[in-house]
Amino acid sequence: MLIHSPAKINLFLKIVRRRPDGYHELASLFQTINLFDKLYFELSDADRFTCTDATLPTDGSNLVLKALSLFRHKTKIDFHVNVHLEKHIPHQAGLGGGSSNAASTLWALNQLNGCPATTDELCTWAAEIGSDVPFFLSEGTAYCTGRGEQVENLPKLPHSALWIVKPPKGLSTPEVYRTLNLSELIERDHQQTLDRFFRGHFECFNDLEGAAFKVMPQLAVLKSELMNFGPTLMCGSGSSFFCLSQHKPVLDQKANIYPAKFINRVSHSWYSEI
Ligand code: C5P
Repeated sequence: MLIHSPAKINLFLKIVRRRPDGYHELASLFQTINLFDKLYFELSDADRFTCTDATLPTDGSNLVLKALSLFRHKTKIDFHVNVHLEKHIPHQAGLGGGSSNAASTLWALNQLNGCPATTDELCTWAAEIGSDVPFFLSEGTAYCTGRGEQVENLPKLPHSALWIVKPPKGLSTPEVYRTLNLSELIERDHQQTLDRFFRGHFECFNDLEGAAFKVMPQLAVLKSELMNFGPTLMCGSGSSFFCLSQHKPVLDQKANIYPAKFINRVSHSWYSEI
């Protein structure tokens, strides 16, 4: 079974408060894009996990294997599986690649085992793996609150062409959150921002940008270069950006640039390349 595991961007990301458990309460409009990892699953007589990217761990710390052991624990089904991950989504980029792989794994294992769990159950389990994992079980456009794990499916937005721009260095999500100074954030009514999106007025912002720019000051330079091509915003906790431009940005500094567009899935089927 081949499963496409999509990346995401945050069209807006509001940090509401720091919680006593160390997490941050957020309000964010998440959108999947057609930048995919590919995951291959095959039932087998022993577990085996391989990955095209030698820099990623293939032990129990990989979110694919966390999802596998969680699924087995929750369903009590005795099975083994071969999994191969073909990595294309850059990591430490704020694109949710690892979280997407975990959600895709839960979906695939559920299919391979005759669908013992509902999507709602998969979502609840997904939150145990990471804050962004439940979003990837939505239909691609969702308003996420709590630490990100409270997911409200929303109608599709008009398809938009964009470029994902990833500088050579990545950013650590915990480090960006640690650097965040909440008193420096601009007051905004995120409910109003959300309503305006669905009336065609895109008002993109990301409260984590300032903190990421403190950790990696050259990101501010990259953003201002990209703004010459079109509206640009950092993805999640960085270090990549999305740039809404018809033309591929031409940059002075080194960065990988990927064409992308919004993508949604229909309920009961998974994301596909088309
Ligand atoms: O939930 P997840 O394991 O993906 O989060 C990784 C880290 O990102 C957390 O340990 C925390 O430092 C930070 N985080 C946060 N608030 C969130 C989500 C993540 O502070 N809502």
